[in-house]
Amino acid sequence: MEEELERRTRSEVPTISLIGEYLVDGGGKRIRPALLLLASRLLGYEGEVDVKYAAVLELIHTATLVHDDIIDGADTRRGRVSVNRRWGNELTVLFGDYLYMKGMKVALEEGDVRVLDLLADVTLAMTEGEILGAERRGSADLTIEDYLEVVRRKTALLFAAACRIPAFLVPGSEKHAEALWGFGLALGTAFQLQDDLLDYTASEEELGKPVLSDLREGKLTLPLILSLADATSEERGAVETVMSERGFVSVPATAILGLVERVGGLEKARGVLEAHAGRARQHALSLPPGDARDALLLAAEYAANRRK
Ligand code: IPE
Ligand code: IPE
Ligand code: MG
Ligand code: MG
Repeated sequence: MEEELERRTRSEVPTISLIGEYLVDGGGKRIRPALLLLASRLLGYEGEVDVKYAAVLELIHTATLVHDDIIDGADTRRGRVSVNRRWGNELTVLFGDYLYMKGMKVALEEGDVRVLDLLADVTLAMTEGEILGAERRGSADLTIEDYLEVVRRKTALLFAAACRIPAFLVPGSEKHAEALWGFGLALGTAFQLQDDLLDYTASEEELGKPVLSDLREGKLTLPLILSLADATSEERGAVETVMSERGFVSVPATAILGLVERVGGLEKARGVLEAHAGRARQHALSLPPGDARDALLLAAEYAANRRK
């Protein structure tokens, strides 16, 4: 998959190869390709097209990341200077466009319209999720339902596609498609909830991106949404101030952390996360037993408990 990724991020235009190499070298967890390859093994697939589709998912994922970092004004990604910071927004938008279409072109080589249709659907949903997220930026009135809808689109659906695509490759495996889809959707949700929790609980060294940045970016995530229900009007005002000032200017970070701690916002968010991780486990347990299923179960644990 790494070789495929490296090959597909090269172009006759040197800048593309340069940024491509920078991003591929920067690492990343590669969790979406890993899930696709594990699901493929679970279904007993023996060809090599799964490796290609795994690379396609990573290409699409990487496209969304570079665009997300422009939108969020992020300076760091994967422990390095972000692409937007290093090459500027103009080139980064274009590079993201290139990655999206490269992913589609690689998938097109196989000519399976069902896979292309699914990839187009989840990619469109990711853009919708980012738009919904952007429109709610700065608002302290976000409901849990609104938040989970954004998470479903911007993160969970790509995970679901990763787990479901191998069922298109193995004749007779359609009966497992629904469980794989449900597994990916629940795991992807848990993964994003943990991402949002880590923004409150991790260190920048662990994460490779700055912490407490969601609120500074004007983004309300689950720990704080759940805390706001029990917040005083003063505390709510403080949250709104941080979002409108785009940083901890007149309100210190400790004030926000104090609120979250006082009302148990992290524990509550953890509870929602665990419910999704549990759902992922249930779906996995309805799949054929064996090493691959054990690894998928482990992936669900990882998504829920990872520290980076
Ligand atoms: C980051 O995804 C965006 C989210 C969905 C939280 P990853 O955490 O998978 O990013 P990399 O690829 O490992 O850097
Ligand atoms: C996930 O949202 C981004 C995408 C799925 C494109 P975040 O904005 O939380 O991701 P990070 O925190 O920047 O990695
Ligand atoms: Mg971001
Ligand atoms: Mg985040």
